[in-house]
Parts: sequence; C-alpha cells; structure tokens
Amino acid sequence: MLDIKINKTETPKAKPAKDDPLLFGTIFTDHMFIMDYVEGKGWHDARIVPYGEITLPPAATIFHYGQGVFEGLKAYNGENGQVQLFRPDMNAKRSNRSSDRLCIPQIPEEDYVQAIKELVKLDKDWIPSEPNHSLYIRPFIIGTDPFLGLRTSAYYKFIVILSPVGPYYPEGLDPVGIWIEDDYVRAVRGGIGEAKTGGNYAASILSQVKAHDEGYSQVLWLDGVHRKYIEEVGAMNIFFKIDGKVVTPMLNGSILPGITRDSVIHLCKEWGLEVEERRVAIDEIKEAWEKGILEEVWGTGTAAVISPVGKFRMGDEVMQVKDGGIGEISQKLYDTVTGIQLGKVEDKHGWVVPVE
Ligand code: PLP
Ligand code: COI
Repeated sequence: MLDIKINKTETPKAKPAKDDPLLFGTIFTDHMFIMDYVEGKGWHDARIVPYGEITLPPAATIFHYGQGVFEGLKAYNGENGQVQLFRPDMNAKRSNRSSDRLCIPQIPEEDYVQAIKELVKLDKDWIPSEPNHSLYIRPFIIGTDPFLGLRTSAYYKFIVILSPVGPYYPEGLDPVGIWIEDDYVRAVRGGIGEAKTGGNYAASILSQVKAHDEGYSQVLWLDGVHRKYIEEVGAMNIFFKIDGKVVTPMLNGSILPGITRDSVIHLCKEWGLEVEERRVAIDEIKEAWEKGILEEVWGTGTAAVISPVGKFRMGDEVMQVKDGGIGEISQKLYDTVTGIQLGKVEDKHGWVVPVE
C-alpha cells in the first residue's frame, strides 16, 4: 500500500460549463499523481500535486529512445451517486506487461490502482455527468535517465493525469469511416505491437493524417508480413458480424489486447452469439460484403467505447456496411457496456470498482 502525500492546489481551475463540447483530451483536472523510481531504491515518493508542467533533463531516455508505456481507462459518475472505474486491474496488468517488453520496472497492481483511485477521489467533481461523457484517466511511465547511451533507464516517473471527455470521435455513436492501410504497417510479430507504448502510435500518425485528409476517421492496419490479415484500428480493436457469427482478429502478439475487446467477447458469448477469435483476411471481409453477409462492423476501445463502422475504403474501393447505420449488436453492446459502467445495468462480472 502506497503512502501518498497530498498537496492540494490553492488555485482550483474553473470546471467546464455544462454545454462545453469537451473535445477529447484537451482539458485537465486540478491534480496529478507522481511517483519516482531510482535503481537500487525502487518506487518511492508517491504524491498528488497540483496539475502542471514537469521538468526533465533534455537527455532523458523517453525523449530519445521512447522508453515509456501508458494506459487509458475512465471514471464514471454512477447512477447510485458512486464514482466507479471499469476493470482497472486489467490496466494495471497490461501496463506491467508493456513494461516488461520495454524493460521498465513493474508497479504492484494494488499500488497502480490505488494511485488512480486516490487521484480520482480528489478530483471527482470533474467527472462530467452528461450522457456519453466521463473522466478519462491516463497513467504513464517514462524513463528519465539523463544519459544518451542506449540502455535501460535507471530513473523513471509514474504519472497519472485526468481529463474530462466527451465522445472520442466527433461522430459520437454515428458510424465512422475507416481507411484500410495497404502501404505502411503499424507493428510486426516480435515487435512492440502488443505493448501500449508511444512508438506504435508514432508509427501510425502518417497513415492517420492521410486517412483524415480523405475524410476517414481512422486507419485499419493489416499484418506486417503478408499485408492481408486484419490487425486492429488506430485506437480500437475491430469486430465483424458475418452471417450471424461474430469474428475478431485473435491476439497474435502484434495487436493490443483490448480490455473493451475482452468485455465484448464475454458479453457476445453470454448472449448466445458464436464468437471466433482467429486470423481474418481482408479478402474474407470483402467477399462477405460482396455476398451481402457482412452484417455489422464495430470497434472497441476505452476512448472509442463501441464505435460502429459505416464504411471502409481500400484503394479506390469503398465498402459501405449495410445501410451505413448503427447495427443491432453494436447498439446493444454500447448500451450494455456503458450501462454497466454507469451502474444502470447489473454488473454480473464484478467489472465495476468503486473509488471510495
Ligand atoms: N488498440 C489500440 C491500438 C488502442 O490504442 C486501444 C485503446 O486503448 C485499443 C486497441 C482498445 O483497448 P482498450 O479496450 O483496452 O481501451
Ligand atoms: C484509449 O482508448 O484509452 C487509448 O489509449 C487510445 C488513444 C489513442 C486515445
């Protein structure tokens, strides 16, 4: 258990107004959590301080070699007045797995979750209550060693910041358009694709810019070897409903093991749907679309929640999914997942964790 020192701000900021659009990740709360690591001493000096700039040596490892990992989860104002998190233990576990891949020291799961809970508790008045809004939590760990040689850092910082957010996509729950990238790749097996680390996202920006310029919200990545199997989307995992069956790319070492993905697989199975986690070739999707049996497509992610996909573009071809509207399962998943998160739907799985 961490001994967290709390230094409250003396100049709290004005909270966003009720009708403020709350563009994703643009506003931050009054406080942040910080904990330091030094080789030989371990993690120490856990503290909550006023949100503000941090000072780092220009030679810090994170700036040059990208040794850092991050997570994303949300806090919700539950129906019962309770502030709650969704499966935060899964974020703690995934963070440690990402850290292993990048030679970053582990943080005990209980400490990771405790840091988040304490910070959210202090800034709970920042949690928006409007529909489809929540408090996005961004924990991250960075190597801060002031040394230009390539080696694992001897110094780290674990920081948590909070941001009140509305929907990730300007479309809200309206279906998004996805660009299938057949030129660049995001990750390869044996690389860092399954770790939540900045390098994967840096690799994706160029394609994302191209997709945006063409009017598409995100990029769908194909595998780095054959360039034919579907991996995931820039900020979400992807699901297809083909002829009654739910199909999603299996965890293959190069995609992020999404927590929303895992929750959606559980729910679909409970609803009696057949779910296949396997290799999914882009040609199979094209064929299903041509035959008229591509019934629904949706993405899953913490920021994106459940995001219906209305169309894909590959090269010059545009595939519109059914009538381009929200599918029945996508809507049911959205209602159920957000319902559990907000305490409106019974939490049969013990996924919801109260903050107090
Ligand atoms: N894939 C990528 C690349 C992501 O950035 C995210 C978002 O975190 C996801 C998938 C979905 O993961 P989760 O459901 O845990 O948020
Ligand atoms: C999340 O959904 O939490 C993510 O980290 C995706 C990010 C690109 C906003």
